[in-house]
Amino acid sequence: MNWNAVAGRFTPPARLAVIGDPIAHSRSPQMHNPALQACGIEAQYIRVQVPVGRVAEAFRQFAACGFLGVNITIPHKFEALDAVDVLDPLAKQLGAVNTLAIREGRLHGYNSDGPGFLRSVKEAFGVEVKDLRVLILGAGGGAGRAVAVQCALAGCSNIVLANRTHEKAVGVMFEIRDVMKSVGTASRAGKAGAVEAIEMDDVHLANQMGNSDLIVNATSLGMKPTDGRLLPGDALEARHLVFDMVYRAGGETPLLADARRAGAKTVDGLSLLLHQGAISFEHWFDRPAPLKVMREGLQNAVMA
Ligand SMILES: NC(=O)c1ccc[n+]([C@@H]2O[C@H](COP(=O)([O-])OP(=O)(O)OC[C@H]3O[C@@H](n4cnc5c(N)ncnc54)[C@H](OP(=O)(O)O)[C@@H]3O)[C@@H](O)[C@H]2O)c1
Repeated sequence: MNWNAVAGRFTPPARLAVIGDPIAHSRSPQMHNPALQACGIEAQYIRVQVPVGRVAEAFRQFAACGFLGVNITIPHKFEALDAVDVLDPLAKQLGAVNTLAIREGRLHGYNSDGPGFLRSVKEAFGVEVKDLRVLILGAGGGAGRAVAVQCALAGCSNIVLANRTHEKAVGVMFEIRDVMKSVGTASRAGKAGAVEAIEMDDVHLANQMGNSDLIVNATSLGMKPTDGRLLPGDALEARHLVFDMVYRAGGETPLLADARRAGAKTVDGLSLLLHQGAISFEHWFDRPAPLKVMREGLQNAVMA
């Protein structure tokens, strides 16, 4: 790729990007470009497809072309961990980098998905994650593990992990125990924080519903209307808070449809996209992000 040509092809010039493989579907440019414009920043945010194994090389090229920052999406968030000069401690703990800030040629790696999740829960449900009993579906995947660690770091004292491949949830459970110990989490009853890994089947999930406040879907299921149910049909109640990290263009995910029928409060993956994007913006420009403009940009992109 001729990187200088990529950067110079745009007016204003490209100085920010999102990388992934594939990347054409990303709505991040429609969220960030209105934000840059609203803040009077002479820069453009573009999509760049980068193949697996080429992330470090891409980062160096971005730095050489005068880029300020990069967002990193599937499948590069883990590869990016080893491709930065300075790794933020939270990104290290969450095990993934989704934001690169380039300062004086140095590559700084951050994770805005975890803190974005906390902001999203607060905005959608008006509560702090630390006050909730959380059930995470898909806790063995990259996003699910990061959410579990972020909940534990935030002081959540009751976390249940479910994953199709059960051993992965068990591995995350041991990590979460260590995090809970390190932050000194105590339950409402004053006992040490509790984390459990369960089989992801109807019987085990149904048994957990009475002990859960917030249910998070971090599996990759829900994008297609034909994707099967994650929870037994009648498992959700009006008191549940349901966070689907998946976003489905042109319709609800099956989980959110079930939640709505049960009268539960819901939020979808678009909210996380917005809040993680706002935190990336804050890393790049050291100023609050224009959240309203970014939200409108995303909503317009979704309706287009
Ligand atoms: N809204 C946002 O900004 C945002 C941010 C991050 C992620 N996400 C979304 O979160 C989802 C997960 O992303 P990721 O990066 O964590 O992917 P990942 O690392 O590939 O993990 C995928 C997860 O889904 C589970 N899974 C896949 N197929 C399944 C099935 N048929 N039944 C049950 N579980 C199944 C996997 O279980 P196994 O371990 O058994 O394979 C694993 O837990 C994706 O849809 C992604 O788009 C959204």
